[in-house]
Amino acid sequence: MTGAETGPNAQQVEYWNSPIAQTWVKLQTRLDRLFQPLTEVALQHAAPQSGERAIDIGCGCGATVLELARRVGTGGHVLGVDISAPMLNLARRRATEAGYSQATLIEADLATYGFPSQSFDLAFSRFGVMFFADPVAAFANLRAALKPGGRLVFACFRPLAENRWVLEPLTAVQHLLPPSPAPGPEEPGQFAFADPDRVRRILTAAGFHNVTLTGHDPDMRLGDAKQAADMSSQIGPIARALMGAPESLRTAVLEALATAYRRFDGPDGVTLPGANWIVAAKV
Ligand SMILES: C[S@@+](CC[C@H](N)C(=O)[O-])C[C@H]1O[C@@H](n2cnc3c(N)ncnc32)[C@H](O)[C@@H]1O
Repeated sequence: MTGAETGPNAQQVEYWNSPIAQTWVKLQTRLDRLFQPLTEVALQHAAPQSGERAIDIGCGCGATVLELARRVGTGGHVLGVDISAPMLNLARRRATEAGYSQATLIEADLATYGFPSQSFDLAFSRFGVMFFADPVAAFANLRAALKPGGRLVFACFRPLAENRWVLEPLTAVQHLLPPSPAPGPEEPGQFAFADPDRVRRILTAAGFHNVTLTGHDPDMRLGDAKQAADMSSQIGPIARALMGAPESLRTAVLEALATAYRRFDGPDGVTLPGANWIVAAKV
């Protein structure tokens, strides 16, 4: 118990400690491979330097904590923050195994965590910023933790329509899924930071300056059709819609997904376009 269970992001705390977290843990190697090209580009934008102090926002299973820790070195510090106990457990294990004593992982809600003020050079995230109920308050909290001149760099998804690696499977099985309304434009969710005007509005209201958004459109390599179907049924919007669904529906969805993915299965396996923003801002 961290207190976050009753805080402003209680729904997200529940979700990221539900069986979905175990799925992220189970799929960690595959997900890190899938997101590797984006991770490299986002880290280039962040340019962590030896000796710097960095926060990893919603660090999950720790891939980017390890990358940041390697770059800041033993003279620096990385504070990975997440609300998901199962994902953090894996992140802690990986940091220990890598011998990164400069990495600390804490279970806390970033929106309300009492960071020491003006003590970090960089706040970084790979897909960990889209889930705050009150994003202005959350980013203002982060901003207060950054030193004057500090920087914020994060990766988030552009709209679903441009992320065909999510859209195509969803369209193929939508008719089978229980109805689940898409989140409203101001609500937390995977695509909550797709609109550049909204991102600028939130960061500016939180006190950030020089906000830039740079598109990054990697090919998403999803393995063979069966592996792709397996992943889509376990994370993302289809997995959300399937939470608590009977096994028979799960099986039907898996079959429909595999059929849909076969259309995109080429010499490199199933490959579909992804679309992200790399967002950068200054204190
Ligand atoms: C899509 S996952 C990304 C995980 C990881 N950054 C990665 O790229 O593999 C989003 C992460 O944000 C975390 N998260 C969501 N809301 C949070 C909050 N208010 N405070 C801290 N972490 C949060 C979730 O627990 C989850 O680990």
